[in-house]
Amino acid sequence: MALRNILTKEDQTLYKKCRPVTDFNARLHQLLDDMGETLLDSDGVGLAAPQVGVLRRVVVVLETNVPEGQEPYLIELVNPEIISASGEQSGAEGCLSLPGEYGLVKRPMDVTVRAQNRYGETFSVSGTGLTARCFCHELDHLEGVIFTARAERMLTEEELQRRENNED
Ligand code: NI
Repeated sequence: MALRNILTKEDQTLYKKCRPVTDFNARLHQLLDDMGETLLDSDGVGLAAPQVGVLRRVVVVLETNVPEGQEPYLIELVNPEIISASGEQSGAEGCLSLPGEYGLVKRPMDVTVRAQNRYGETFSVSGTGLTARCFCHELDHLEGVIFTARAERMLTEEELQRRENNED
């Protein structure tokens, strides 16, 4: 496994549409292993392949809605599609490719995704709250869409400060 470099918003790779994965081979497994390690190392909750310069439909999401005492775990999504979405949430959203920038983005509260796993087997997974937001955000990346394009507005300096204070 190895850490991969995360591209930032100046990189045009982030604005391109990704191609489906057709080969569920060692190269894909290496990509998923590296993306998982890179995500955990960055303290993020989601990472899409174009963020590490690979224009394929691959995403990793950290499921943080776990019972107390249990560790968050990674969900690997290959060729994911949203099959149902309901409810609504509005809140601050950020991206590992735009460090320090946050915007207010409306997203569904509950989202179910159908995807393939690293072996090509189809499965469905549901997420709520932050995980639902993350599914939407990461799937947008596969279309070359960055959250700033969906934000009602970006957070002000003052709001960012307050956010930092709350996190400390
Ligand atoms: Ni992102």
